[in-house]
Amino acid sequence: MTGDKERVHLSGALQTMLATLYAKALDADLPEPILGDRYAKDVVEHIDYDWRKTTITAARSPAVTTRSAHFDAWTRRFLAVHPDAVVLHVGCGLDARFFRLRPGDGVDWYDVDYASVAELRRTLLPTDRRNHVVAASVTDPAWFDEIPTGRPTLMIGEGLTMYLTESDGLALLRRVVDHAPSGELQFDAFNWLGIRSQWSNAVVRRSGARLHWAINGPDDILAAVPGTRLLEWQRWFESESCSRLPPGYRALGAVMSQIPVVANMSQYHRYAF
Ligand SMILES: C[S@@+](CC[C@H](N)C(=O)[O-])C[C@H]1O[C@@H](n2cnc3c(N)ncnc32)[C@H](O)[C@@H]1O
Repeated sequence: MTGDKERVHLSGALQTMLATLYAKALDADLPEPILGDRYAKDVVEHIDYDWRKTTITAARSPAVTTRSAHFDAWTRRFLAVHPDAVVLHVGCGLDARFFRLRPGDGVDWYDVDYASVAELRRTLLPTDRRNHVVAASVTDPAWFDEIPTGRPTLMIGEGLTMYLTESDGLALLRRVVDHAPSGELQFDAFNWLGIRSQWSNAVVRRSGARLHWAINGPDDILAAVPGTRLLEWQRWFESESCSRLPPGYRALGAVMSQIPVVANMSQYHRYAF
């Protein structure tokens, strides 16, 4: 700590969660926020970091906040019908989804990220007896030992799959399906062009992270993860959360939608099992 601030030294995929956190903090100060996450703002104020390094500005924040708003909406839908759910929020970073959504008392929520991120969560975010922080790589099967079985289970992976290798990512999805009797897998993904053009993604480039797993559409998942059924598949700009974007962004979406491979660069996937 410096004064009352926490100093962070992260690199690679772990560092990218500072960019998504900062985007949410900047959004919270906008006159018309998309996500309106006061937790992000509070956490940013307690971290000693040169936030310019994230390359995020208020104008760029909707690229992150529309995604978070989207997964908030899908998560709410699952929790509305499964008040006894187990939630696996994998690659959670410092996202405060549990506190934004305040699930009911019957829900057990697991925020999973690398140990150094989990430690920051424990220091900087509020605690709740239903909100369990797991310090582990999501690819390590051992952490499943502490996850309850026999309950409807939701896995949310926001901004995660592209950092995993295909074999690690598919193994994670299969593990969730094998562990729980029923539930949903919700995650976003980049197609091959999103992975190949990673050099143009300033957040990824500045962090030194590498992107690996290209998911080109639902068939890639349905063929590889037995027991899954497609519920929804959307491109980023088709999401309801994008209706609140500034006009410049909406124009970009309209252009992107004309070229399928570009339109599919960033996608949202939702499966039942
Ligand atoms: C782009 S950030 C997204 C963070 C958060 N989901 C959000 O939207 O704000 C990527 C996150 O995935 C985490 N991550 C990447 N690979 C991981 C792995 N193998 N195990 C655990 N966490 C991982 C990183 O540490 C980081 O917190």
